[in-house]
Amino acid sequence: MVSFYDKPRFDKQAAVVLLTKDQVQKKACPFPLKPVCEALQAAVDASQFEGGKGEMFPAVIAGKVVILVGLGKSADVSLTSVRIVLRRAFLSNPLKKLSTVEVILHEDHADIAHAAVEAAIIGTYAWKKYITRKKDDQTVDIKFYYIVTRFTKEASLAAVIADGVNFSRDLVNDNADTVTPEFLEKTVRDLIKNNKTVSLEVLGRKELSAKGLGLLLAVNQGSNKKPRVVIAKYSGAGKGSPFTAFVGKGLTFDCGGLNLKPSGSIETMREDMSGAAAVIGTLKTVLALKPKKNLIFAFGAVENAIDANSYKPGDVFKGYSGKTVEIGNTDAEGRLVLADVLSYVIKNYSPAKVIDLATLTGACVVALGHDYAGVLGNNDDLIMKILASAHATDDRAWQLPMYPEYKDAIKSKIADIKNISNVRGAAGTVCGAEFLHQFVGETPWVHLDIAGTAFVDGDSHWYYGHGATGYGVRLCTNYLLNN
Ligand code: BES
Ligand code: MN
Ligand code: ZN
Repeated sequence: MVSFYDKPRFDKQAAVVLLTKDQVQKKACPFPLKPVCEALQAAVDASQFEGGKGEMFPAVIAGKVVILVGLGKSADVSLTSVRIVLRRAFLSNPLKKLSTVEVILHEDHADIAHAAVEAAIIGTYAWKKYITRKKDDQTVDIKFYYIVTRFTKEASLAAVIADGVNFSRDLVNDNADTVTPEFLEKTVRDLIKNNKTVSLEVLGRKELSAKGLGLLLAVNQGSNKKPRVVIAKYSGAGKGSPFTAFVGKGLTFDCGGLNLKPSGSIETMREDMSGAAAVIGTLKTVLALKPKKNLIFAFGAVENAIDANSYKPGDVFKGYSGKTVEIGNTDAEGRLVLADVLSYVIKNYSPAKVIDLATLTGACVVALGHDYAGVLGNNDDLIMKILASAHATDDRAWQLPMYPEYKDAIKSKIADIKNISNVRGAAGTVCGAEFLHQFVGETPWVHLDIAGTAFVDGDSHWYYGHGATGYGVRLCTNYLLNN
């Protein structure tokens, strides 16, 4: 829980105080808070604190825990380092048993308050649903952070968006057999209940089959879960105003199909619905912010499983667009699902722009790691705007090339195209995007490959703990609010 007020009060159980090295060296205390200034002076005099990046000095002053936190030289301070350093302080031992924390910033600026909110909400998120062991150390999990800032409007906006990020993370982190296509449908229904600005279209097996979304259905063949395409239409602007569509890949589990994934690759594949989760998290944020925009939130949700009905390598299927596709590899399933959802949304909703988010290729993790999503598309203006939102929100993204020549790589001898590239091991992310490109026509479109950024498998990364990151919610919200 995060709240805001504009003057330090020093009345909580703890205070976390951010300081740059420059501020510490100046010796003139930057805050109108006597006890904190005395603590700072004492720490500096005893050579215990210099304000270097990541330095932390805990003290007890007037019965309160005060943690001095260094940011390093002010010229080198970034908003990312504010998030990282603050998160570490929030999770540090001296705060474990406390529930109220006042946060005093080194400088009161809208961006810094925004970063502090994210450190509190996104940074301290942990997925603990299935941990049953009792805590013996009285750790308090639910904390109240009071951020001292004049920029309450910006900070409140950041808090709403960060809640959308964590909502998305919960969907990704929970079991694949819990978060099924039907569960995702119900999640959206619950979010939009009684909301007159949103209308919903849901396609089940019967509708998918009648309408001919044969690529999506092929992927679902081996699964015992019911497939879903969910399209929520949010009409916040006038009738004449064009729609922007967000489309997510919603593979609730991707075992690879008959081209089964090996150990080491399969364990985190419940993350393969992270694109859909980002779309749903953005929808939740939009419902709270009520922007005057026309927006579409869509995803295709299926499971790529194995049984006797599984779709087979070498077989050919026809999608909603009428194009036929040879299955070169059943593990290249996301592009099949997206091809049908993209062509369905474009044909039936005529959006002016489409942004898709998908954990599409392992090659993207190789190229950009867990730090940057891949950005590809058919419209430079839209790409630039997405990159600007990526930069502004720290949902980082980097453009990869798309040239007409890549089309040759997905040629098939027996169908219109093939779902994998004929050039093995080369430009996998570009080829995945080129496949999608074949289904968007002239509609301005951007594809975000979030295979690396959606999920952290390890102790922590930047200001994320293990598991889902909620990548895309901040980026998409920023984009839709500013365009
Ligand atoms: N869901 C995977 C991609 C993925 C990999 C997501 C790692 C998150 C982390 C996707 O469906 C997949 O399996 N892609 C294949 C494509 C290949 C068969 C052309 C891949 O990347 O190996
Ligand atoms: Mn796959
Ligand atoms: Zn997949």
